[in-house]
Amino acid sequence: MTDPNLQEIHDFLVGLAQKAGPKIAAANPSTVGTKKNSSDLVTETDKAVEDLISSACRSAYPDYAFLGEETSTSGRLTASPTFVVDPIDGTTNFVHAHPYISISMALVRNFKPEVGVVYNPFTQHLYTAIKGQGAYLTAAKVPTSFPVAGQSVESTYERRKLPLRSSPPPLSDLSHALVAVEYGNERSGNNWESKIGTFNALGRAKTDNDGAMVQSVRSLGSAALNCCSVARGDMDVYWEGGCWAWDVAAGWIIVEEAGGMMVGGNQGEWEPKVDGRRYLVLRAGAGKEVIEEFWSKTQGKLIY
Ligand code: IPD
Repeated sequence: MTDPNLQEIHDFLVGLAQKAGPKIAAANPSTVGTKKNSSDLVTETDKAVEDLISSACRSAYPDYAFLGEETSTSGRLTASPTFVVDPIDGTTNFVHAHPYISISMALVRNFKPEVGVVYNPFTQHLYTAIKGQGAYLTAAKVPTSFPVAGQSVESTYERRKLPLRSSPPPLSDLSHALVAVEYGNERSGNNWESKIGTFNALGRAKTDNDGAMVQSVRSLGSAALNCCSVARGDMDVYWEGGCWAWDVAAGWIIVEEAGGMMVGGNQGEWEPKVDGRRYLVLRAGAGKEVIEEFWSKTQGKLIY
């Protein structure tokens, strides 16, 4: 098999995001079903969008494998080139009409993402990266004039593709960090106890009169967008156990190409696995000591 043309695959995935995005933005998530439990939701739109993307991938790249949230049974990857896709990352937000959701698509080869595309169809923020070629955000600028009747909103916004790598201030400890965590959809058992123990350790005060261990903690509901926020630098750290390769594969390459890094969610896991289900993501400028500090605050081991 010849090496994939990464630019061509990037353009193909961006085209798919632009095709699928308006379908999500226009959909009414009325048909809501559950998967493992009542916090694990799926809608007809998740399935229809995955169908659209998988058919297009299979027909354009018949030699490549496909791993999608709505059709995979194992969630595990092989070393073959694989499209790894979450049609709607943030389904719970989608069901509640909360606009923090994304389509997340990656090409993963030898267990490493090489192309990543994450698109929020509501904000129309498009995050993209190709291995070795940088990460970008394509978004509308703040409008230069207030939109007026009869004038399309598009004409007052200018879409720009901006590189995400900058020179962020160094981050040498967690005391000034904004940290993303997620509740996920498993709410009992040992992993749950480890997670809430860690949330507590992060959020609590250092001493009675002092501030918290971190500046604050957020739980916004889309793993892929959390990674993009870290890539962009508006979030410093993201930690989660329990999500899957389709939630983080695209975000991983976007973070890495923006100068940040991903390691595993437990102490000592310097080499994360894309389907390892526990991740710690840091923005550019964060030192290794921040990783060690975070790991020292985790309460119990995550085992999936
Ligand atoms: C979920 C979101 C959420 C994370 C869960 C994921 P889905 O993806 O990324 O933020 O906490 O672990 O399963 O189910 O909405 O595609």
